[in-house]
Amino acid sequence: MTATAGAPVVARTPADLDAALSPLRSSGTIVLVPTMGALHDGHVALLRRARELAGPDGAVVVSVFVNPLQFGPSEDFDRYPRDLDRDLAICAREGAAVVFAPDIATMYPTGVPHEHADPRHPAVTVAPGPIAELLEGAARPGHFHGVLTVVAKLFGLVRPDLAVFGEKDYQQLALIRRLTEDLCLGVGIVAVPTDRDPDGLARSSRNGYLSATERISALALSRGLRAAERAAVYGAAAALAAGREVLDAADGVEVDYFVVLGADLAPLPPDVAPATPARALVAARVGATRLIDNAALMLGPADTPSEGSPR
Ligand code: PAF
Repeated sequence: MTATAGAPVVARTPADLDAALSPLRSSGTIVLVPTMGALHDGHVALLRRARELAGPDGAVVVSVFVNPLQFGPSEDFDRYPRDLDRDLAICAREGAAVVFAPDIATMYPTGVPHEHADPRHPAVTVAPGPIAELLEGAARPGHFHGVLTVVAKLFGLVRPDLAVFGEKDYQQLALIRRLTEDLCLGVGIVAVPTDRDPDGLARSSRNGYLSATERISALALSRGLRAAERAAVYGAAAALAAGREVLDAADGVEVDYFVVLGADLAPLPPDVAPATPARALVAARVGATRLIDNAALMLGPADTPSEGSPR
């Protein structure tokens, strides 16, 4: 465990974490910001919200852990950007009290479950339920099983009052709400709106993989969502059609899905009541990079239901 004046305590183990958090627990709200590091402005928005929620007497804890269990075998676990010194500087600037940066053996002492062949050490993991099979879950089998398992572990280790997540990963947010509710974890989940570049591109660690041309193509995702937002007054089907038109016209964008679902990601009922909140969600490949984005919709009264079926 290391600490210097004004810098967060860096805890590497559960014992370090306990030592850092024990004196803080009685004084105020503990707010956790779970991350995989490579902090960007989107994370800064989460850290600032966490700092506000913690107030003068509370403390912000940031976890930095690239979780192998949520990456598929052909995904970017090895090349996922890692720069703890830079992350620590950002956490210090944003007033985090503790950074929890465990290694894989600390988080998975009996081995990463899907790599663990020894039947004497069955790992207990979280089954994320049917919403995890859709959208990102369909494209990335096992992803949410990994996310919910590590989030449950982080909640157990940090025991925060509140945890902050970005709306950018909307399906993740919806599933973490269900995790917390269904397993009675007693952590308040706070959502922070997606942070965007001035031209509308949702901030993401993966934007760094885009070439200049690909970055321009990627703007179609936010443009498609804006078109859906504008058309939502005419109903879900209109919102879906408007978004698809923009995405289909975009060069260099291969759409994986574009859907309109209920705000909880359940399918919309056939008779959508006036002013029903809904969510448009998109995933697309731009070059070799897969991007996701989403937007809140307020559906208008006249509507035909959307199947929201992936293409
Ligand atoms: O959103 C992320 O960065 C990760 O999925 C999370 C929540 C930190 C779990 O590894």
